[in-house]
Amino acid sequence: MKIAIIGAGYVGLTSAAVFAKLGHTVWAVDNNEDKIRLLQKGNVPFFEPKLPELVKKNVKTGRLIPTSDYSAAVKESDVVFICVGTPMLAGGEADLSQVFAAAKQMAKYLNNGVVVVNKSTVPVGTTEKVREIIRKNSKINFDVASCPEFLREGHAVENTLNPERIVVGVDSKRAKKILAKLHEKLPGERVITDIRTAEMVKYASNAFLATKISFINEIANLCEELGANVSDVALGMGLDSRIGKAFLHAGIGYGGSCFPKDTRALHSIAFSHNYDFKLLKAVIEINQLQRKKFLEKVKKSLGNLKGKKIGVLGLAFKNNTDDIRESAAIEIIELLMKEGASVTAYDPKAIANAKRAVSGLRTGAKPEDVAKDASAILILTEWTEFAKLNWKSVKTAMKRPLILDGRNLLNPEKMRKMGFEYVGIGTK
Ligand code: NAD
Ligand code: UGA
Repeated sequence: MKIAIIGAGYVGLTSAAVFAKLGHTVWAVDNNEDKIRLLQKGNVPFFEPKLPELVKKNVKTGRLIPTSDYSAAVKESDVVFICVGTPMLAGGEADLSQVFAAAKQMAKYLNNGVVVVNKSTVPVGTTEKVREIIRKNSKINFDVASCPEFLREGHAVENTLNPERIVVGVDSKRAKKILAKLHEKLPGERVITDIRTAEMVKYASNAFLATKISFINEIANLCEELGANVSDVALGMGLDSRIGKAFLHAGIGYGGSCFPKDTRALHSIAFSHNYDFKLLKAVIEINQLQRKKFLEKVKKSLGNLKGKKIGVLGLAFKNNTDDIRESAAIEIIELLMKEGASVTAYDPKAIANAKRAVSGLRTGAKPEDVAKDASAILILTEWTEFAKLNWKSVKTAMKRPLILDGRNLLNPEKMRKMGFEYVGIGTK
């Protein structure tokens, strides 16, 4: 099949590369020309494991064609995907301007019989608005559909090649048939439903996962009061298959380009329909408090932060990515700096992005660099390599051997045996 994918970010580029690998001809369209120039040379402008190999190979064979030219991409395509950003507006609602702009830009080039599929995360009813925009700007026969995306950054390629489920929202037999054919080589359960329901599945999934995280963070806070251990509580709960082990890792709260914005967007959708979504409101508040609570722990251990040297391990919103959007680490560092602390940070992939976001941020070239004369080391991102550090030599370099582990990455007993003061989340 011939496919055009509008928006060559984490979602669009990964889908484009995977569809190309499956044998389709795919145009990856982006209005960021710098990005397209890099992609045309086979280079990926962000860090995502396994994606560069896939992009390079398929650009070389000509099955993946990066371009900023809508007309070349769209005029031959049987299916056009919208994968542009839907960031958060100041009031919490989703900003749909990129989605509507993409619909308008593609309209005059679309083929008769094309299926326009929205993959961006959007409020219920948005795909119908996309249909209206295309209708106003084109005379062709076409269908619209919703295929929400569930990949996780850091695992984008494997998630796209091995999805647990593919949700397809359609309102015509033609779209249903074409999308079944398009996805036929991919594994996973199929959920074929109407367009509005498919749009809702996406927000409900992210809101539920965020709820699990806020729930376990509240249990962690209680564990601290009661002398229990949240990691074992999570294991004891998670082994019940009705609950499941995933997304029960307590920490400094969820971040990233998705959970914070999607929970806020769903809450504001409910609000605009006069529905008070009390549970989701609490999930959002708990997440904000969890970051502040961690800062309070730092202050409790160190007293006044003015002039104190603090080492930070981790800047990305989670491991295996260079993405710092809504990263809890960045917010905590900014709060520490505001209180006068002298912060040196390290991250395996996110230093360049963090330096652009936090002016005056001092960084180390390797993790051990943050330890020199530090009164504490904070672990703010769950990179597994931090667990494998030579902690004995880190301790020697520190002024005070204090670790505040915001991700429960280290073994408290082991660290204490080594002579560290160790403060985790939801542990004694
Ligand atoms: P992104 O910011 O990485 O990429 C979006 C791309 O769209 C950018 O490269 C931008 O230049 C391009 N773009 C914007 N307007 C355009 C236009 N009119 N024409 C052509 N290109 C345009 O975003 P992303 O992380 O890939 O997310 C895209 C959507 O998918 C969002 O709605 C997001 O919520 C959703 N989503 C993201 C993930 C994820 O893990 N990142 C997972 C599932 C769903
Ligand atoms: C998330 C979802 O997991 C994807 O299914 C979804 O497609 C995507 O959002 C999206 O809609 O864009 P992602 O944001 O890449 O994916 O990252 P996650 O791995 O879900 O982690 C999100 C945040 O929660 C991170 O800050 C992570 O550290 C935190 N987290 C995760 C916890 O604090 N505890 C956990 O148990 C799991």
